[in-house]
Amino acid sequence: MNKKTLKDLQIKGKSILLRCDFNVPLDDQGDITDDRRIQGAIETIEYLKDQGGKVLLISHLGRPKGKFDSKLSLKPVAKRLEKLLNTEVVFYSDEKVISDQTKREVLKMNEGDIGLLENIRFRKEETENDETFAKDLASMGDLYVNDAFGTSHRAHASNFGLAKNLPSAVGFLVEKELEFFTKTLENPKRPFVAIIGGAKVSDKIGVIKNLLGKVDQLIIGGGMAYTFLKAKGYDVGKSILEEDKIILAKELMQNARSQGVELILPVDTVVAKEFDNSAEHWTVDVKNIPNDTMGLDIGEISIALFDETIQKANTIIWNGPMGVFEMSSYEKGTKTMAESLAKSKGVTIIGGGDSAAAVEKFQLANEMSHISTGGGASLELLEGKILPGIDSIEDK
Ligand code: 3PG
Repeated sequence: MNKKTLKDLQIKGKSILLRCDFNVPLDDQGDITDDRRIQGAIETIEYLKDQGGKVLLISHLGRPKGKFDSKLSLKPVAKRLEKLLNTEVVFYSDEKVISDQTKREVLKMNEGDIGLLENIRFRKEETENDETFAKDLASMGDLYVNDAFGTSHRAHASNFGLAKNLPSAVGFLVEKELEFFTKTLENPKRPFVAIIGGAKVSDKIGVIKNLLGKVDQLIIGGGMAYTFLKAKGYDVGKSILEEDKIILAKELMQNARSQGVELILPVDTVVAKEFDNSAEHWTVDVKNIPNDTMGLDIGEISIALFDETIQKANTIIWNGPMGVFEMSSYEKGTKTMAESLAKSKGVTIIGGGDSAAAVEKFQLANEMSHISTGGGASLELLEGKILPGIDSIEDK
């Protein structure tokens, strides 16, 4: 990576605007249900504090569309940060995020202090990537650090805009994410296997196309597999199907063959008549899916087939669940894939979003080489796209 990192910055006495991605899930009570993204930022925050920086944290939470929304306040994040850092985090609870009053308070920060601004998306100028707003934000700092990997596929005022206005670098989290994704994609230890799942082919076309040029085997599971099975000429009953992607699925299978990539589809599937956890369900061969049923998970033979491929691999990337893992009746395929990766001796990389949530749910997070903190961002990296939030950071 040729971008400046924290080690390239003189930090002592400087005000650092540190963009993090604290877009974490909250329950109905407003309690954080998964703080991996907050934990992921701790190393950078502690480093900047220890080096004598004045650390001002910036993040979004949800999509409040430019208006204050108390349910999307970053206050619970400030509390969780205090716990994890074991130090005070000053929360600037300003509905306008940066009024003159808040700016005056920020200016009073001392070396080693940590502050957190209110949800940056309470200002519409953030997602509009407004230049004046970016300049206004930049006026509060000497340096800009991007550690918000999960937001790096967006070009907003508090990432792209700040990088245009201040000397910049990436934080440790972004460095680590890029290390895993780019190194692996450019120079994987072979065999290199990708497991792609999730509901729709349309969400993963770019990823599949890009990975076909890199992997040795491509396993396809989840709802999207039924469009591929249909393209092979099988009836898929009431399973999720993208009619308008059947031809594309055929082309992708042809591309795989011509590029020498083994494309592996499920051979059996768990079916039910209703999309319901308590519905009667059983396993059938994918060639015999009854008309009045839908596939909701991969079957035992597919699990064994996928596992065998995974155990032979030295690098594995996983993006997207194998079935409706949110329902206990259809979680087995996704759970056993997570177990299979946990057992593997190879490098295991989990894309953010659903696969990361699944690995957490089955308590196997510690067994993986890397779990990305970015859903959309990791997907775009796997598509071979350039992330504007990172591209805008100064080169070394
Ligand atoms: C994410 O959760 O993927 C990031 O925080 C970006 O959020 P967004 O999709 O609302 O821009």
